[in-house]
Amino acid sequence: MSNFDWSKLPFGYQKADYNVRCYFRDGNWGELEISSSEYINMHISATALHYGQQAFEGMKAYRGKDGKIRLFRWEENFKRMERSAHGIMMAPITKDIFKEAITKAVLMNERYVPPHGTGAALYIRPLLIGSGAEIGVKPAKEFLFMVFVTPVGPYFKEGFNPVKIAIVRDSDRAAPLGTGNIKVGGNYASSLTGIIKAQQAGYSSPMYLDSVHKKYIDEIGAANFFGIKNNTYVTPKSSSILSSITNMSIMQLAEDIGLTVERRQVEIDELDTFDEVGACGTAAIISPIGEVYDIDENKKYEFCKDGKVGPISTKIYNKLVDIQYGDEPDFHNWIEIIN
Ligand SMILES: Cc1ncc(COP(=O)(O)O)c(C=O)c1O
Repeated sequence: MSNFDWSKLPFGYQKADYNVRCYFRDGNWGELEISSSEYINMHISATALHYGQQAFEGMKAYRGKDGKIRLFRWEENFKRMERSAHGIMMAPITKDIFKEAITKAVLMNERYVPPHGTGAALYIRPLLIGSGAEIGVKPAKEFLFMVFVTPVGPYFKEGFNPVKIAIVRDSDRAAPLGTGNIKVGGNYASSLTGIIKAQQAGYSSPMYLDSVHKKYIDEIGAANFFGIKNNTYVTPKSSSILSSITNMSIMQLAEDIGLTVERRQVEIDELDTFDEVGACGTAAIISPIGEVYDIDENKKYEFCKDGKVGPISTKIYNKLVDIQYGDEPDFHNWIEIIN
């Protein structure tokens, strides 16, 4: 095992030893190649550079108490990457290559998979780009699929504590019939002004509203939104948000503990009625929200007034993390042990 100070590891990029690559040429995917370089050699006219043909995934490998390495719902990441590829006219990677690539990338960098109990994990980043040269706006004929890994520390250095969110209305991350529902780089480029605006105002992330009416909650930074009230877990239904694998799992766990799950439009005003609200995604699992500030209306929605995270968010967070690290039985068959 590498000799990082695991408990101080940031949520950022650290070099590992190897990454894997696979090229799509002449209508076919080739053999997986292993590289120890952090760089790629690209044509200056590759469609990824000019026309945003780029999709990625984010997932983690977790080390259990038994020392074994676990992947969490990797097939969902594969399916989402397939949808992303179709959404921006790229050749989708096959399921077999995806699985082999993530497994190889993790096992070849096994010494970077953090020990159990440190709160750290190995982040896995599959990436698919248009590598073929074009000048007219059209899909590339050649693609490059890569997987690299990097050990990441717990998302919250201070622990599982409430964060503050700001509603941003003067920029949109995505449009209803755009690409917000797939994981492509352009969405993140258009989210940057909102992220920086929220951060400059002293908030950790922006809340995006639906871009047509500016009335319904879409997403929070790079995470889905949820609210809890009356024994019900409510999360937005919108054509412009990314379908979060964490949220999908939380909805199941919420049902398991007896909550009703509702996926529907959520008006901003409804914020007043929730007992607990949060954001969810692979990085932090659940970010409990303590305050949502509406910058334009100068209105604050406050939660966790005693400074403590709500009981249902805490219960679901612990359940999910325990399943991921193998500390709790995997009733839903979400885990695959790869060594
Ligand atoms: C825009 C956006 N929404 C939601 C999520 C959460 O998705 P997941 O739970 O699959 O990580 C992510 C992270 O991938 C994201 O980038």
